[in-house]
Amino acid sequence: MDAVRIYGGNCLCGQTTIQGSKNASLPILAATLLINGICEIENCPDISDVYHMLRLLESLGCRVEREGTLVRVNTKQLSKCDMPADSVGVMRSSIMLLGALLARTGSVSMEYPGGCVIGARPIDLHLQSLRRMGVAIEQQKKGFCAESMRLKGAVFQLPFVSVGVTENLLLAAVLAEGMTVIEPAAREPEIQALCDFLNLAGARIEGKGSGRLIVHGVKKLMPVRYRIPADRIVAGTYLCACMAAGGEIFLREAPVEDMESVLEYACSMGVTIACETDGMQVKGRACKRIPGVLRTGCYPAFPTDMQSQFMVVMAASGQPGQIEETVFENRFRIVPELCKMGADISVQGNTAYVNGRRKLCGAIVQAQELRGGAALILAALAAQGTSIVTNRHYIDRGYEDIVFRLRELGAKIELA
Ligand code: EPZ
Repeated sequence: MDAVRIYGGNCLCGQTTIQGSKNASLPILAATLLINGICEIENCPDISDVYHMLRLLESLGCRVEREGTLVRVNTKQLSKCDMPADSVGVMRSSIMLLGALLARTGSVSMEYPGGCVIGARPIDLHLQSLRRMGVAIEQQKKGFCAESMRLKGAVFQLPFVSVGVTENLLLAAVLAEGMTVIEPAAREPEIQALCDFLNLAGARIEGKGSGRLIVHGVKKLMPVRYRIPADRIVAGTYLCACMAAGGEIFLREAPVEDMESVLEYACSMGVTIACETDGMQVKGRACKRIPGVLRTGCYPAFPTDMQSQFMVVMAASGQPGQIEETVFENRFRIVPELCKMGADISVQGNTAYVNGRRKLCGAIVQAQELRGGAALILAALAAQGTSIVTNRHYIDRGYEDIVFRLRELGAKIELA
């Protein structure tokens, strides 16, 4: 069955290694299209979003090999520039191939990537920005065709910060004619990893990690071997497992330097966190209220991808809490499911009011999207009794073997 069964109410005890970052892997795999040769990507997580990205690359004529967490992408035989609808539909991140394919082949046709339950996820800013780089885009009902003889650098003053748009413009700009300025650019660690990968391959990108990226177009990029950094959201999720259920865990390779806002809020809720050179030790259960409102925002603010997990921690903490979601318009989908477990949460607009209860009760609940689904597993670990979380496939999109990893941390959990 596409579900997990959790026997809750037990403290966690154990250690696990944090997987490579999904949101760094996807744009970097797209970036291999810019390089005519064989790139080797280490620490690439074995998750379904990466699986679908690799299938998409193969559908374009690339050869892909995986040996454990090492992925080799050979783009010498790149032959097509129209992406199969079923793959695009399955994974929104296919939009990241747009900039890279235009830079490599000058032509792309694809269906619109769908929205998802957390929001409409439009691509209007992607398309209007690429038009400014000399791309002709003909939009039809279900998709669009994009053509460009030679991408031209441009100076962008974007209306808002977008991770995906920053990534697409970087991929379009590195081989474009002239200079491109991207401002405000997203500052996420995953963008910094993409800049590192591209500069290692011979790109000329300045301003990594700042809100202003300057790209000087070059003629060619060379094949490289690059190691994907650890996933800060997966590390934060397992941190929240301990905060909700209690206990003591060690997260090997947790990227603590990329988790400042998350760790600050976690400590304010009463857990003890010790950052070591090879990871992070977490001790205790969250038992204090966060002062003020927990507001999501662009990096380095508190990440929207950690919002559902902290809602669960608040719900199990016995303390009141308030969460304001500023990035996506519909990212409180787990509230009705948490209420089935006895949580007391109400939503008004983009704010959730959590009245923490010491005791959540096991129930059958349904995952509706990636991070909310993982958060329901955390709630089940804290709840008294047995829970079943269905639609596990949503969680498998971003978490490598979550059942095995949580078992390493002492959870009583099994596939159902
Ligand atoms: C990336 O999505 C991440 N996905 C998301 O993680 C993450 O939540 C998000 O950035 C914000 O940090 C990947 O990296 C694969 P945006 P992205 O463009 O690029 C609006 C996860 O759980 N917008 O920064 O799609 C958009 O609707 C996922 O791993 C437009 O209106 O996010 C949103 O409200 C979920 N028009 C806001 O901007 C556009 O053309 C920010 O979205 C593009 C975006």
